[in-house]
Amino acid sequence: MPKIRVGLVGIGNCASAIVQGVYYYASRGDCEGLIHCEIGGYRVEDIEFVAAIDVSQHKVGRDLSEAIFAPPNLTPRITEVPRLGVTVARGAVLDGVAPHMADVFKPAPGRDPSLDEVAEALRGADVVVNLLPVGSEEATRFYATAAIKAGAAFVNGIPVFIASDPEGVWPRRFESAGLPVLGDDVKGQVGATITHRMLVSLLRDRGVKVEATYQLNVGGNTDFLNMLVEERLKSKRISKTRAVTSLVDYGRELEETGGVRIGPSDYVPFLGNTKVAYMYVRGRGFAGFPLTIDLKLTVDDKSMCGAVLVDAIRAAKVALDRGEAGAIPEASAWYFKHPPVQAPSDAEARRWLEEWLATDKRLASSNSPGPRD
Ligand SMILES: NC(=O)c1ccc[n+]([C@@H]2O[C@H](COP(=O)([O-])OP(=O)(O)OC[C@H]3O[C@@H](n4cnc5c(N)ncnc54)[C@H](O)[C@@H]3O)[C@@H](O)[C@H]2O)c1
Repeated sequence: MPKIRVGLVGIGNCASAIVQGVYYYASRGDCEGLIHCEIGGYRVEDIEFVAAIDVSQHKVGRDLSEAIFAPPNLTPRITEVPRLGVTVARGAVLDGVAPHMADVFKPAPGRDPSLDEVAEALRGADVVVNLLPVGSEEATRFYATAAIKAGAAFVNGIPVFIASDPEGVWPRRFESAGLPVLGDDVKGQVGATITHRMLVSLLRDRGVKVEATYQLNVGGNTDFLNMLVEERLKSKRISKTRAVTSLVDYGRELEETGGVRIGPSDYVPFLGNTKVAYMYVRGRGFAGFPLTIDLKLTVDDKSMCGAVLVDAIRAAKVALDRGEAGAIPEASAWYFKHPPVQAPSDAEARRWLEEWLATDKRLASSNSPGPRD
């Protein structure tokens, strides 16, 4: 198989998990812990890193193999990563660094590069993966444009609505350029979103009406530190909330009546990359009798991200190989919290993906309805 040449934007803890994951699986030769061993014939070890961009003084100018371990990253070393010959280029700060993160992500000296310079830094990549801090609205649009200029597919790991742009502007931009875009906002391997969706689907499928639900998440990495500021969380809350409320036809009503609260809830430094999610669902079943579910999920937050992104990168390359362009809803619903089309269940999202992977035709021509019907 040819290699999948990847450019990473934001060399934080997720990037560290992805880069290390590729070398971890290359050294083992097995697929334990992966969602898919192969996607379109591509294995995880077919991913190759060709470009990397960050702004931090600790990361810019260093080889990617070193930058992934530079502070404030705290993803542990799980495997040996050879020197990659990929120097982290300085990106444009824009709104990537919030005022309260100015010391943590302290930008390297020098001016912000132009769009053309960033596109040049990304040239040669088949797929660009966006891993900026939550709230990087302007910066995400900047790098999405740079990816288009560089001729690369775009995988948007964060809650800025590019693949799922409600106006459809961004999907059309990628379509005009003949490039696919997948997103938005990674849904962890067995993270809080997919678990919460399972709980609500269970109640829905068993005839129980959900009356109130919350999902409170805490963690101790820079992702959670960045998310302490509520104004950076607008899209994140929409992304996480809709992922759950879209499962029931009274979801919007539940939101409007204050029956839902979902999102990052605090920063607890000693937790590091451990994320704890507290989920509560209260509903009424037969003859109005109440039931409640209280669930606590503890995961390594960045392994959750890595597991999904090594799939999404390969799915983006499959779309690129097939000449598919614009938003790819079939490859987004299973992997992202806020996809262009939200599936009625995760089983259905998975079916969309598997049928799409199995056929060269769009799902519109399949017997069962897909996201384009
Ligand atoms: N399970 C998960 O980890 C998960 C799930 C869904 C979404 N996400 C999102 O993925 C993103 C990445 O997560 P992370 O834990 O790696 O974050 P992180 O805080 O570890 O890393 C962010 C990186 O972006 C860099 N950066 C800031 N502004 C920049 C700019 N303008 N240009 C280039 N680089 C810039 C920072 O220096 C830092 O290295 C976050 O938005 C996170 O919310 C993660």
